[in-house]
Amino acid sequence: MNKIELLSRDHDREGFDCGADALNSYLRNIARQHIEKQISKTFVLVDEHAVAPKPILGFYTVGLCEVVTGELPPSFAKKYPPLIPAIRLGRLAIDLRQQGKRLGAALLFAAIKQYAQAAESVGGVAIIVDAKDEKAAQFYLHFGFERFATDPLKLFMPLGAVRQLLAV
Ligand SMILES: CC(C)(COP(=O)(O)OP(=O)(O)OC[C@H]1O[C@@H](n2cnc3c(N)ncnc32)[C@H](O)[C@@H]1OP(=O)(O)O)[C@@H](O)C(=O)NCCC(=O)NCCS
Repeated sequence: MNKIELLSRDHDREGFDCGADALNSYLRNIARQHIEKQISKTFVLVDEHAVAPKPILGFYTVGLCEVVTGELPPSFAKKYPPLIPAIRLGRLAIDLRQQGKRLGAALLFAAIKQYAQAAESVGGVAIIVDAKDEKAAQFYLHFGFERFATDPLKLFMPLGAVRQLLAV
């Protein structure tokens, strides 16, 4: 069984390789600083029996954000004021050796569940994702995310759709 933990010194950041240098480098050099400064939180997927330095199977990063409503599709935007609060899934990656085993789906569900729980207490109209390229965008579209009107690599899922996805 695998489990999800907040990134710490116990995790083998150097050994992680998802095939995307920018994501590997963020995990190695920046993610822990951002946790300490409360900028964002990075969670890692590890084997429940792993011992430090624990191999990282995958990770995701979440944080707060504000969205310019005009950047969203008009049918959605019309219900809201010009700026709305949201949660951003800034990064999500699975180690190359672990891809295709539904771990990406597992981390995406963990992130959206975290968003749904946070939204109960502090609000947040949607979960936003920044896809690094069109292939990554296709991954999010596969789960029902919708594109922003202004940027094809930014996608969102409103709370109602998140609740439906989690209820399935
Ligand atoms: C994109 C990524 C996170 C997917 O993780 P994964 O563990 O390989 O994917 P999973 O095995 O969980 O796939 C779950 C489902 O998504 C589908 N899927 C996976 N990658 C996909 C893609 N790029 N486009 C469309 N569908 C995709 C799978 O076919 C599977 O479909 P199913 O539900 O019908 O079985 C992973 O390939 C990765 O880390 N890539 C490098 C970094 C990256 O691009 N991150 C994206 C955000 S910036």
